[in-house]
Amino acid sequence: MKKKVGFIGWRGMVGSVLLNRMCEENDFEKIVPVFFSTSQKGQIGPKIQGVIQSKLEDAYNIEALKALDVVVTCQGGEYTNVIFYKLRKIGWNGYWIDAASTLRMQKDSVIVLDPVNKNIIEKSIQRGIKNFIGGNCTVSLMLMSLGGLFVSDLIEWVTVSTYQAASGSGAQHMIELLNQMGVIYTAVSQELKSMLVSPLSIEQKVTKITRSEVLPKNYFQVPLVGSVLPWIDTHVKYGQTKEEWKAQTETNKILGYKDKILIDGVCVRVGSLRCHSQSFTIKLKKDISMSEIETILSSHNEWVRVIPNNYNDTVHDLTPTAVTGKLITPVGRLRKLSLGKKYLSAFTVGDQLLWGAAEPLRRILKLLT
Ligand code: HSE
Repeated sequence: MKKKVGFIGWRGMVGSVLLNRMCEENDFEKIVPVFFSTSQKGQIGPKIQGVIQSKLEDAYNIEALKALDVVVTCQGGEYTNVIFYKLRKIGWNGYWIDAASTLRMQKDSVIVLDPVNKNIIEKSIQRGIKNFIGGNCTVSLMLMSLGGLFVSDLIEWVTVSTYQAASGSGAQHMIELLNQMGVIYTAVSQELKSMLVSPLSIEQKVTKITRSEVLPKNYFQVPLVGSVLPWIDTHVKYGQTKEEWKAQTETNKILGYKDKILIDGVCVRVGSLRCHSQSFTIKLKKDISMSEIETILSSHNEWVRVIPNNYNDTVHDLTPTAVTGKLITPVGRLRKLSLGKKYLSAFTVGDQLLWGAAEPLRRILKLLT
């Protein structure tokens, strides 16, 4: 019998990408979907493959949720905190699939990224695990690109600098970045057309605007346009942010290790829209050739692409512009660093809404239903 699957938070960016992908893959044919809303109960449901779905149910109605075989939520951690425990407390034994970090590190949860940890996912299903949580976007994207080296147990430690898209902060942040761009352009559009104005005077005008109240910054609080923000999420301890803390913690959990691989670095918000890029220094356990490394990386999964380490391939195929909206997870700038033969450099790009968020959820839902 088809499983009854409830969707919460399906209108947000991750939720919308999830529904689109499910339509592309005909996933709705295999389930009975029920759409919920935290604020618009009773309103008309979404159109799925030409069919308008029945009216929205109340996402806080425990009785309605209890009737589901699977809950899929992209609503965020607050919703999980309020609803998950209530549902479990009354004995609901369905599958909980979540994009938020709230339950990720709990013992009875599995972080899902099936091209990397399908064996762990399958064993957990057999063991009766019911909570399947999507990983942090940078972690999932790193493992999609560099998975071959991780699962071959070739990595001793990793340091990383991220270049994270505005959309990682939320839809409103991405819109604010675009508005910031618009304000800057409008202010200097005449000067840009004139051959008579010096570039430095244009830069000075732009800098002055970015430091003024004219620039919209309700969400980021500061300018992101023309700048970078080397701090993402809250402080954990010893100066490390939560986003930085997740790298080692979640990676090891996904791989089924106990902090075996050391990973740390600096997470940085940049002005791209929805692709996260990452620059890695990897300490290998042994000196292996570049061609072996490339074979191990490219044979790990069907989405990874090894980009040759030259200017043309790099600027055309290893950028957010090239990768946005696609499932491919390219890795390039691969070379042994001058630090020594076991030190590898790598640069990765991935769409934070696809493999970084929605796709692992879509795939676990498919596996469970
Ligand atoms: N934690 C991520 C970020 C969100 O802030 O970019 C997932 O993409």
